[in-house]
Amino acid sequence: MIPISFKNLSKSFTYGFLRCHKVLKSLSLEIREGEVFGFLGPNGAGKSTAINTALGFIKPDEGEVLLNGISSEDPSARKPLGYMPENPHFSEYLTAYELLEFSGLASGMDRGALRKKIDPLLIKMELLPFKHRAVRTFSKGMKQRIGLAMALISNPPILILDEPMSGLDPMGRRLVTDLILELKAEGKTVFFSTHILNDVEILCDRIAVLHKGELLYCGPTHDFISDAGNLEDAFLALIKNNQETSSP
Ligand SMILES: Nc1ncnc2c1ncn2[C@@H]1O[C@H](COP(=O)(O)OP(=O)(O)O)[C@@H](O)[C@H]1O
Ligand SMILES: [Mg+2]
Repeated sequence: MIPISFKNLSKSFTYGFLRCHKVLKSLSLEIREGEVFGFLGPNGAGKSTAINTALGFIKPDEGEVLLNGISSEDPSARKPLGYMPENPHFSEYLTAYELLEFSGLASGMDRGALRKKIDPLLIKMELLPFKHRAVRTFSKGMKQRIGLAMALISNPPILILDEPMSGLDPMGRRLVTDLILELKAEGKTVFFSTHILNDVEILCDRIAVLHKGELLYCGPTHDFISDAGNLEDAFLALIKNNQETSSP
């Protein structure tokens, strides 16, 4: 079973009177079971739009996303998913504990199992001392970590993380990379988007590069790097080359 499969996905947004912006151009991509897959691309490439379609938040113009073979428009398809949005918005008066309790109950966990999971997860995220603090007092990095904890609370087999490294300091980034490696060791499928290239090389089995809604590369991370010697140079060369060929 393929955990996540984007099939010929196209999406346009219209602005004002008849101004149409094609954000995804027939995107096809398969994420395999147990792999860590990096979805790379500059800001505005269309990564979040693709992810939001996989979660059923956006209806595509054409194509579909299948989750374990079921269309993402079917709410039952989302059951095996844990998701962290790009900019998590919380009900800011809730505490870390209450947010995790809410997420766990919303994903169908019973209160007994939930209670046993909250403290270990807060410890892992280095948030235990802030268990009963309202999240409005949290720093950006702490909000990011509670967002991740909310995605993980029900122990889902598939994780979709939209820019999990963004806005984090080096310690925060290390915590997230270690966590993703731990999830991989547990056999989970992790699909994450990022415009930050540090750590991608050590984390990802395969990557895709999206630029202006088009897939420029999909394959093993080490094949992508090949002659360039490092991921950043290979990425910049690919984007530059595409800009040159797509300019009038
Ligand atoms: N709801 C929306 N309405 C109109 N335009 C949108 C909407 N969501 C995204 N866009 C536009 O689509 C493009 C791709 O955005 P996005 O998917 O957020 O890119 P990325 O996540 O790669 O940075 C951007 O130009 C953005 O302005
Ligand atoms: Mg985005």
